[in-house]
Amino acid sequence: MATLCCRTTSFLFTILLTAASIISTSYSSAASLDGEIIWGASVDDATQSFSWNVSWGIVYLLGKPKQVLLINGQFPGPQINTITNVNLQINVFNSITEPLLFTWNGIYQRRTSWQDGVLGTNCPIMPGQNFTYLFQVKDQVGSYFYFPTTGFLKAAGGYGGLQVDNRVIIPLPYKTPDGEVTILIGDWYTANHTDLQGSLDAGRSLGLPDGILINGRGPFGSYITLDPGKTYRLRISNVGISTSLNFRIAGHSLTVVESEGAHTKQLTLANLDVHVGQSYAVLVTLNQIPGEYYMVATSRFTSTVVSGIAVLHYSNSQSKVSGPLPSGPTTEIDYSVTQARAITWNLTANAARPNPQGSFHYGMINVTETAVIEGAVTMMNGKLRYAANSVSYVNPPTPLKLADYFNLGGVFSLNYPRFPTGGSSFLGTAVLPTTFRGFLELVFQNDEDIVQSWHIDGYVAFVVAIDGGRWSSASRAEYNLVDALPRSTIQVYPHAWTAVLLELDNAGMWNLRSQLWERQYLGEQLYFKVPNPDGSIRNEAPIPSNVLLCGVAVGQHP
Ligand SMILES: *[C@@H]1O[C@H](CO)[C@@H](O)[C@H](O)[C@H]1NC(C)=O
Ligand SMILES: *[C@@H]1O[C@H](CO)[C@@H](O)[C@H](O)[C@H]1NC(C)=O
Ligand SMILES: *[C@@H]1O[C@H](CO)[C@@H](O)[C@H](O)[C@H]1NC(C)=O
Ligand SMILES: *[C@@H]1O[C@H](CO)[C@@H](O)[C@H](O)[C@H]1NC(C)=O
Ligand SMILES: *[C@@H]1O[C@H](CO)[C@@H](O)[C@H](O)[C@H]1NC(C)=O
Repeated sequence: MATLCCRTTSFLFTILLTAASIISTSYSSAASLDGEIIWGASVDDATQSFSWNVSWGIVYLLGKPKQVLLINGQFPGPQINTITNVNLQINVFNSITEPLLFTWNGIYQRRTSWQDGVLGTNCPIMPGQNFTYLFQVKDQVGSYFYFPTTGFLKAAGGYGGLQVDNRVIIPLPYKTPDGEVTILIGDWYTANHTDLQGSLDAGRSLGLPDGILINGRGPFGSYITLDPGKTYRLRISNVGISTSLNFRIAGHSLTVVESEGAHTKQLTLANLDVHVGQSYAVLVTLNQIPGEYYMVATSRFTSTVVSGIAVLHYSNSQSKVSGPLPSGPTTEIDYSVTQARAITWNLTANAARPNPQGSFHYGMINVTETAVIEGAVTMMNGKLRYAANSVSYVNPPTPLKLADYFNLGGVFSLNYPRFPTGGSSFLGTAVLPTTFRGFLELVFQNDEDIVQSWHIDGYVAFVVAIDGGRWSSASRAEYNLVDALPRSTIQVYPHAWTAVLLELDNAGMWNLRSQLWERQYLGEQLYFKVPNPDGSIRNEAPIPSNVLLCGVAVGQHP
């Protein structure tokens, strides 16, 4: 959220150039055009360029070969390590046989939903084509990841970590760790993504995954060697498609320090629930007897527990891991709720900018609009679909963002219902209208038996309350208006609700979706529009000069 902070100064720019020497990939300082804004990037800040060739490959996982996505030959995809305010320029070459887009989970895409990489904002990169994303990781520090959004490619990998570091001048609220480890945990289906997509198209649910991967490897495939006595920052993301996971390391505690870009009050836990699409940073100190320890990610709230197993190896030890896996919670909901409530915002820590996080008093801002979103399972023509507020979303051939920009009618309607309708579900492409700089109260209601995970593109939102039953205006009495965690991916427990608050300061067309990919694919998503009131590029970046056109936008002039 941009308003957590203030404006860029040339002082910070100087520091950034110093910090940039630690960037390992190709680096160039952009020519100065006096602070002019190009696309969603800033010419005052450094640019880091990547070229990605996305192709098919086969990996053997959980004993079965499966066609997966490779990025420059890698599975998972390459890690992006960057620093606050750097412009990322990522040229994606589609060398697969399907349309392709990537999204940058948790990155605000400040003023530039043009770069968000979902079908409502971007035309897909067609086979043989390429597209260069250009966006600034503006005012963010933290742990994120990217993944493919088109078709059902998310079930074929194509994900990777995206780490945004603080500028050295703005210290962390804890001792700089001795090292970093990215841990991508996620469920895995041994069926390939075309078979999975075929099941969904035929109206069948995917069911339970076959296993859990850690860093793209099955049990005992990831072997992480670290030094005794040292403290590491583990950046953990749940990159899976359907399953909440519990992460833990035998004999070692996890100190939670960050969640999707917010410094948390440091909280030491034995294990941590990470819902689909969420990211955390935790500190782990290798303070145990040198040896090997299990690092596990096990499914939560499933009838059968599936486990991902990696090994933490002390570099000075020869011994081998043995014995039972460390135990953890399985189906307990209350445990998860209690843990989620205990992780709060550190008001005195600074994040991307020197002012303390708590100087943004979100609890003192008056709510100007409310929406309550309730997901549902439904059947249409004998096939499984999902909906939210009765609308089962359908992707039109023209991205909503382009239709809106070029004033092309008939692509979407601006009448998404603000509240659950109670009526039966229907197919549609409806957008929730909002007011620029309004303050939105968004309530996610879940009357199903599953743990839902909603993701808000373009924003983080303060998770002010989680509780059982149905939300009502009286529920506002229980809001945490002081130190609730701001996050972009929000779990909603069974027969419960989660309320969030967000300032609508990022103009654009933004996707709000279930991160449970079967649900997203079958209609449980929507877009909300935050209008640019005066068309100024201060509020919204101009259309990129390399924009891809499709649908009825073909032939338009950007
Ligand atoms: C991408 O990789 C494929 C397969 O290795 C190769 O045939 C193709 O030439 C590469 N394309 C680019 C743009 O590097
Ligand atoms: C997916 O698996 C099916 C067999 O279940 C196979 O027929 C099909 O060719 C595979 N598709 C890809 C893209 O690997
Ligand atoms: C495709 O890549 C070329 C460089 O190889 C680049 O100049 C061009 O802008 C890219 N296309 C798009 C649409 O970004
Ligand atoms: C919060 O941040 C402050 C300032 O950086 C730090 O000194 C303190 O240890 C943090 N508190 C907790 C509970 O993490
Ligand atoms: C919020 O609303 C109250 C009551 O209408 C008003 O007194 C107060 O000034 C408002 N606060 C802000 C920050 O606008």
